[in-house]
Amino acid sequence: MGAPAVAEYVLSSSEVERIRSLTRSLEGGSIDDGRFLARTAVRADELPRGLRTFLEDFRVTESSPACRVRGLPVEAERMGPTPVVSSRQRVKAASETRAELVAVLLSSCLGDVFGWRLQHDGSLIHDLAPRLEHEDTGLGTGSRQAINWHTEDAFHPCRADHVGLLCVRNPAEVPTTVGFLDSSLLSDRDRQLLAQPVFTFRPDPSYFVSGAEPLPGPDRGSILFGDPADPYLRFDQDYIDLPAGVEGIGDAIESLRRAIEVNLIDLPLHSGDLLFLDNRRAVHGRASFEATYAGTDRWLKRVNITLDLKRSRHLRGSAIDRVIRV
Ligand SMILES: [Fe+2]
Repeated sequence: MGAPAVAEYVLSSSEVERIRSLTRSLEGGSIDDGRFLARTAVRADELPRGLRTFLEDFRVTESSPACRVRGLPVEAERMGPTPVVSSRQRVKAASETRAELVAVLLSSCLGDVFGWRLQHDGSLIHDLAPRLEHEDTGLGTGSRQAINWHTEDAFHPCRADHVGLLCVRNPAEVPTTVGFLDSSLLSDRDRQLLAQPVFTFRPDPSYFVSGAEPLPGPDRGSILFGDPADPYLRFDQDYIDLPAGVEGIGDAIESLRRAIEVNLIDLPLHSGDLLFLDNRRAVHGRASFEATYAGTDRWLKRVNITLDLKRSRHLRGSAIDRVIRV
């Protein structure tokens, strides 16, 4: 038996209290301000040592493709109804800002938080909550359409190294899907083909915001990379073009799908859970569900995290700016 696909850390009541008081001491700053984020990252040193050890092990040992911290102080009942509009169009309760600070503090143990100009109006924290106008789309703010498993923002060279999903509420237990590649199920020929830099990764519809040019373009690269014996993965089955005329490429993709789908699990997140995905090793998605728009629908807060802010410096307005333009 190897390490679990999703390592878990359950907070004790004293650890929760410590996180709560640390979060309160940070109130008043804006999470969308790069300087405030830098100060918050310093204060992440004050998180409980057991939690920091767990997150550091997750980051450096790569023994699990995903991990979940349970029991975080999220005051869901004080945060108001699940939002049906963008966070820029509403006023957040103090309890909601505190929940976002919790997400940023823990994310800062893994890397630096960043955002995308074209996603969620450039906010660094994304509300994944159903909106009526997106109901039948595959967006994170959709509901009726399942989101197939994927690498987050697979098309972009500066995509997140880790993705955080903090659950505010999920009373209907809508599953988040998590999977990873069992490369022992791939033949040498499949591995060779999938490691060729011949695939075209296309942006997903969340980037096609009307009137928001320039829109991002596709990127070419390999699906497998890193150590050939234990490869990393970049794949979004819905937004990839295969090279023409390469013998065996379709079969290799089918093998890849099978080698991931044998490990897919349904993980319903609960209030106070923060799931971190290693975006080179885990894929993720979401089951379809019926939204009610009555204020109690599933509500997650998503955070993008990079190990290297400098990788996207040429795509951000300044060193302190955390928003990638395309
Ligand atoms: Fe995603």
